Amino acid sequence: MANIPLRNGGPAARIAVIPGDGIGKEVTPEAVKVLRAVAAAGKRALEFVEFDWGADKYLREGVSLPAGAVEMLRDEFDAILFGALGDPRVPSNQHAADILLGLRFKLDLYVNARPVELLHERLTPLRDRKEQDVRIMVVRENTEGLYVGIGGFFKKGTADEIDKSNAMTFAHDLWQRVFQEVRQEYADIESRHLYIDTLAMEIVRDPRQFDVIVTCNLFGDIISDLGAQLAGGLGLAPSGNIHPGRTSLFEPVHGSAPNIAGKGIANPLGSVLTAGMLLEFLDWKAEATAVHSGVKEALFKNYLTPDLGGAKKTTEVGDWLAERVAKSLVP
Ligand SMILES: NC(=O)c1ccc[n+]([C@@H]2O[C@H](COP(=O)([O-])OP(=O)(O)OC[C@H]3O[C@@H](n4cnc5c(N)ncnc54)[C@H](O)[C@@H]3O)[C@@H](O)[C@H]2O)c1
Repeated sequence: MANIPLRNGGPAARIAVIPGDGIGKEVTPEAVKVLRAVAAAGKRALEFVEFDWGADKYLREGVSLPAGAVEMLRDEFDAILFGALGDPRVPSNQHAADILLGLRFKLDLYVNARPVELLHERLTPLRDRKEQDVRIMVVRENTEGLYVGIGGFFKKGTADEIDKSNAMTFAHDLWQRVFQEVRQEYADIESRHLYIDTLAMEIVRDPRQFDVIVTCNLFGDIISDLGAQLAGGLGLAPSGNIHPGRTSLFEPVHGSAPNIAGKGIANPLGSVLTAGMLLEFLDWKAEATAVHSGVKEALFKNYLTPDLGGAKKTTEVGDWLAERVAKSLVP
């Protein structure tokens, strides 16, 4: 379980649902199905409002993130359940940048929590690793770094144009200073600094070394995808874009997967685990645990989509999980 910062622990919550594009539209309804079952079984109130922001709307109306959307989400919702954005008809991916990066930046969702958790040992490509060996919370800085689109070129267009990106002295000096400062306050926590190339090697060689990895936006994106593969692939990886105490956005790590969209075979487990993180954020602990256990049971009973070796459809997995999770919550 992720143990993420909380919004509130109240009995009711309002959730904005943005399925997006491609398989986002297939997996998100399954996560909502499970959340509805959870709310009904636990006698809690969850209200869902769905928004059709994505490629279709962008192509039809030229609108990506509508005016006033950020303020509405911030003021009227506790959390956002997000699918994925990306459509071959929008090669620039402009709508995705406007909506997803727009929400991350404008809601100041500066923590991207991406748990890497091996839920069944057969899912890892690493030899002789057990479930407890791969359990890492990757905390990615989420609103700065290379994604802000601010910068310049060094000697562009001249014979001397060179790429200094592997040094990055200036970009990461602040991280080093803050890390050295903060670690003094937590002497009981073992901590060390690793360069990204070393981390990439070490996380594969022996993932047991790490409980938490804190890193910048770009490195976090890459390391958490690497981590996702160590724990069963993109179809299983959840994430939370969080501002502690404020409206936060939860999404599976995967994209819109145009190569399988519309076939009904997308794995909904990443989205369902994401819904579990959302429940943790609301401080609905028993419900969050029930969702997590339900996904684990699906893995152990092989009630799975083809990417994980099963033969079930997306909706079949969602139906099964909703029923299991509801049953486990009824005393
Ligand atoms: N947060 C986001 O919205 C987000 C994240 C990543 C990529 N994207 C966008 O998604 C589009 C496709 O990108 P991509 O192909 O690089 O990454 P992707 O995650 O969509 O797909 C990568 C591979 O993993 C498979 N896969 C992903 N999720 C799966 C699932 N739930 N079940 C079964 N298989 C799954 C896909 O079939 C594909 O083979 C692009 O437009 C990209 O920009 C969006």
